[in-house]
Amino acid sequence: MSRRGVLVTGGAGFIGSHFARLAVEQGRTIVVLDDLSSGTPGCLPASLHLVEGDIGDVAVVKRIVHAHDIGSVVHFAGKLGAEASVRAPEAYFDVNVVRALRLLDTVRELGIRAFLFSSTAAVYGQPDLVPVPETAPLAPLNPCGTSKLAFEHALSAVGAAHGIAWGALRYFNAAGARRDGTLAENHEPETHLVPLALDAALGKRPPIVVFGSDHPTPDGTCVRDFIHVEDLAVAHLRALDAVEVGTTVGPVNLGTGRGHSVREVLATIASVLGRPVPHTFGPRRPGDPPQLVADVRRARAVLGWRATRTSLATMIEDALRARMRRPQFVRTPDIEEIAEKWLCPAETAPDWDAVDQASWESFPASDPPAYP
Ligand code: UFG
Repeated sequence: MSRRGVLVTGGAGFIGSHFARLAVEQGRTIVVLDDLSSGTPGCLPASLHLVEGDIGDVAVVKRIVHAHDIGSVVHFAGKLGAEASVRAPEAYFDVNVVRALRLLDTVRELGIRAFLFSSTAAVYGQPDLVPVPETAPLAPLNPCGTSKLAFEHALSAVGAAHGIAWGALRYFNAAGARRDGTLAENHEPETHLVPLALDAALGKRPPIVVFGSDHPTPDGTCVRDFIHVEDLAVAHLRALDAVEVGTTVGPVNLGTGRGHSVREVLATIASVLGRPVPHTFGPRRPGDPPQLVADVRRARAVLGWRATRTSLATMIEDALRARMRRPQFVRTPDIEEIAEKWLCPAETAPDWDAVDQASWESFPASDPPAYP
């Protein structure tokens, strides 16, 4: 089957770049549209078209769609960061809703009928029930989650009105990196636990502050569902296959279904590196749910997907290898042994042939949970 091109917005970002690389390796024609406000364009393969531009720029989007015979959109571009969104909500609504709607409207007018959206577990706010199913109340606690949820609503309604097959993939805590070390998590400023704790252990940042040791969890620290970014990339391919044949997958949680506490993450990093992670304990971070773990049954049912790289140690090893390969990483004498061990020749790229494409040519119809 000859497949049409895929427009990947935000494809220079952490999750988007992992997806774009995988999709190219799977023989897809990918065009990345990214404003390069964050992300790492140098990591993208030369065989991929990168257009520097804004998702809300109608002329640019039209030009890409016509020039590359685009048949579907995977929309990663957006603003993330719970705390930052409280300080500057207008930027979050502008990018995550206003410009995203313009993108959706532009591609709808051009006849595109397949659209995937990067959503987030933040749409659930503080869930009462863990693991959280997609049918849980949607009650985000900050403009980041609210703006993502607003676009989910819009996509669901526009999809129904105009026959667009869509999916809103709700990520839990993305972690890890491509196992050959060639793509890394690269947020600026960095706010995520794993990269911050790795840097603290490597002496590249001050000790990290653990936000709260009195949460109602087994060890008092928050519990999160860490999901390997390579697994996320595969889930997107599955979802793309589905929407391309006209099957709406709706909202889908992407996690492992298993939680790890912040203390467990620090202990695992210490054991991978053979040195402790310097840390102190501070107050709870406002809006942090004590436990956020995905109910992954819907992902299995509608995508035929489940996470495979589920070991926390594997995610941390992959994150470490990639982190030390970033151009800005400075190798210092105090980490010589670690560098020797982890800056080893790159492992081979993932064996994506193991991803069974053939069995996903048709997808079961599924009724996505309705929006209130
Ligand atoms: N944490 C610390 N200290 C830090 C950083 C994080 O203790 O310096 C803790 C947090 O309190 C939380 C856990 O580590 O309990 C994970 O925090 P992250 O900031 O890495 O991730 P979040 O769980 O806050 O948020 C991530 C994404 C959001 C997404 C959410 C959904 O950044 O976009 O997962 O689960 F909405």
